[in-house]
Amino acid sequence: MASSNFVEHRGFLMPSKYYDINTFEYICNEFQVRDQDVFNITYPKSGTTWMQEILTLIQSDGDTTISHTVPNWERVPWLELPLFVKKLESQHSPRFLASHLPVHLFPKSFFTSKAKAIYTVRNPRDVLVSLHYFSKAAGFLDELDNIEELLPKFLKGEVFGGSWFEHVRGWLGVRDQVNLLILTYEELLQDLRGSVMRICNFLGRELNEAAIDSVVENTTLKSMKDNKMSNHSTVNKEIIDVQKSPFIRKGISGDWRNHFTPAMIESFDATYKEAIKDINFKFIWDQC
Ligand code: A3P
Repeated sequence: MASSNFVEHRGFLMPSKYYDINTFEYICNEFQVRDQDVFNITYPKSGTTWMQEILTLIQSDGDTTISHTVPNWERVPWLELPLFVKKLESQHSPRFLASHLPVHLFPKSFFTSKAKAIYTVRNPRDVLVSLHYFSKAAGFLDELDNIEELLPKFLKGEVFGGSWFEHVRGWLGVRDQVNLLILTYEELLQDLRGSVMRICNFLGRELNEAAIDSVVENTTLKSMKDNKMSNHSTVNKEIIDVQKSPFIRKGISGDWRNHFTPAMIESFDATYKEAIKDINFKFIWDQC
């Protein structure tokens, strides 16, 4: 069973302290997406904050004034967070919005709009490790000291964000029907500049070389660790305490190798292979 700390809505799990079913329903059925909207969609711990920073800096042509003075959650606020819903409606276009929603709970109006969305996917093994560390810092998540205990919950989708497999299957399944750019966390790591250029191209933004340089320089792990407006150090410690575990943490691909035992690898791979069979997508981490 999922922890009682979660609200569950049609397979999607979020911390009950901050989320509610009425808002999920409202966002899905009534929220009006505008053609100029840009969405940053992820399963948790897949690079959401990184993309918030990239989008902010692309929008400001590489100028850091906003990214250094306004917290990331105000620059690219959460779509499904009840606290923000009213504000979103009065926000000027173009709106940049972050979301962990699975495709079946996303605003219906998105699917008939010209709005754009970027979906960032990450190796689920590294997502699991990142979630393990995040649960030490997040007051709204049960801390599981032992990552081995988290693994079966993750595989069953009984964690923050619900099932990784359902999330990814859902979003990749609509990629030919909507304005969706699929990126992986691993591609961002391998070629940040090339990824920024792809995002600019997708958004129809033409940035000069100096502006692109600035976007890249200010979205490295080091820059974001040092930026109080994106490293979550200004968040109330009861919500996220970065002294317990930094939010912008290791920022690498393959950290799972330092945490998975042979038994964990076996268990993960068995579920993974079966669950991704019908996902018609070649993940970068499966290409060896
Ligand atoms: P790790 O815990 O593996 O380090 P999200 O924003 O979706 O919650 O994802 C958080 C993960 O993204 C963390 O992963 C964090 O370190 C990583 N991250 C954030 N900014 C990054 C950057 N500029 N470069 C690389 N990784 C970054």
